[in-house]
Amino acid sequence: MRACDKISVEIYYFSGTGNSLHVAREIRKRITETELIPIVSLLNKNIIKTNAKIVGFVFPIHLAMAPAAVIEFLKKLDLRSAEYIFTVATRAGSQHRAFIDLENILKKKGKSLDSYFSLNMPSNDPKFEGWEPATDEEIRKLESNVQNKLDSIQEIILKKEKYHEEDTEFITHMPAFPILSIFLPFLNRFYNVEFYADSKCARCGTCERVCLSGKVKMIDGKPVWHKDIQCFFCHACLNYCPEQAVQIKSSRLLKSFTEENERYSHPYATADDIAGQK
Ligand SMILES: Cc1cc2nc3c(=O)[nH]c(=O)nc-3n(C[C@H](O)[C@H](O)[C@H](O)COP(=O)(O)O)c2cc1C
Repeated sequence: MRACDKISVEIYYFSGTGNSLHVAREIRKRITETELIPIVSLLNKNIIKTNAKIVGFVFPIHLAMAPAAVIEFLKKLDLRSAEYIFTVATRAGSQHRAFIDLENILKKKGKSLDSYFSLNMPSNDPKFEGWEPATDEEIRKLESNVQNKLDSIQEIILKKEKYHEEDTEFITHMPAFPILSIFLPFLNRFYNVEFYADSKCARCGTCERVCLSGKVKMIDGKPVWHKDIQCFFCHACLNYCPEQAVQIKSSRLLKSFTEENERYSHPYATADDIAGQK
């Protein structure tokens, strides 16, 4: 049990490149008695208990879903103290089914999401042909929308209002979505991309430091992605490598273009901020 009964809001967050961390911090600026708790720091616990009456989850969308680490965490979380639960998902703009999945988990605990929102932010997934990181101008525009939306989110949370964001983008409106959604939970299993460091690697160990799952280990001064440790696909190793030496290997299902593409991390989130989640 955490010893912080006075804290009125707890936000549990997961962030590979700082977008979701930025959002969590911005909510804390607006609702001052908020404690930010990194999900990764709790994953090795068997039972995790909230103390707050208002509880939030902030994380990125991965492959149209909540990251596997977030799902694992939520399944263990004892939410009995929570009287109001909200979620903010950050994404690069595509539709997802994260809220449906979260609702299903919470339902088994006799809880539900009182409000949920998604925020469009720059993409941190440089493996596609022609991918380019958001320009400063695009980041400014996205950030301005994020700030406006966070003002509304703050009001909704403080008034403990119900708010289920109407999603107007494509997947949920496709006739095939109910069928597609059956297969989505299995998509993670097929998303088995492999990482490696190319000859630009300066052996600085940043990849090991920011790796949220503990998969990257420096062995004889070189990074090794351990086969037996499950990757969280947060892309921190890929995006924070100062030499852009970390790459994704092409697989039969996916051709990767990381060798040609630039990288992205949130302008206010350092490698130390990401590593600090562990
Ligand atoms: C492996 C992976 C899969 C992603 N899948 C999606 C997706 O399905 N839809 C989407 O809009 N964004 C997707 N993104 C982009 C991230 O959700 C987005 O950039 C997010 O804000 C990153 O947050 P973070 O910096 O807190 O990790 C994906 C990113 C990664 C690394």
